[in-house]
Amino acid sequence: MTRLAIYPGSFDPVTRGHEDLVRRSLAFADEVIVAVATNPTKRPLFSCEERLELLHVVFRGAPAVRVQAFDGLLASFAQRAHASLIVRGLRAVSDFEYEFQMALMNRQLAPGLETVFLTPGLEFTYLSSSLIREVAQFGGELGDLVHPVVREALERKFRR
Ligand code: PNS
Repeated sequence: MTRLAIYPGSFDPVTRGHEDLVRRSLAFADEVIVAVATNPTKRPLFSCEERLELLHVVFRGAPAVRVQAFDGLLASFAQRAHASLIVRGLRAVSDFEYEFQMALMNRQLAPGLETVFLTPGLEFTYLSSSLIREVAQFGGELGDLVHPVVREALERKFRR
């Protein structure tokens, strides 16, 4: 039986931290769906199509990784995909409260749907998409904190 995990998020944009978590997930899952939420409460910098496109490039060459968009509830998407595992990253204690609530709500909505929390590599613990967007907006050097295709997309977005 294929062990399928869902790694949901906004991915606005995908960072090296997200890539690290997908790699770590493949240590216990046969297949990972990187699930892009199309209706985040925040107004995204990249459209859903742009985020999917970037993810497709970043995970090209990783046959065990699927990239998909979803709208509505994550729990319903997981049920439709026949997945019983959600992967989320925990970078710091400050992430915990929201993540804990989401995990419990998702299990309430879809009994049997479990969430596992992974810690990223130490070098990625301070990374977030929002920080990446901010640094890019003001012309800061991103180095290898994002895939080159993401860096180029950010440069295009903020080109004046
Ligand atoms: O990368 P993010 O922004 O932290 O991801 C949050 C996300 C998209 C995973 C979360 O907002 C979500 O699951 N949204 C889908 C709607 C939903 O199911 N909401 C109830 C969560 S318990």
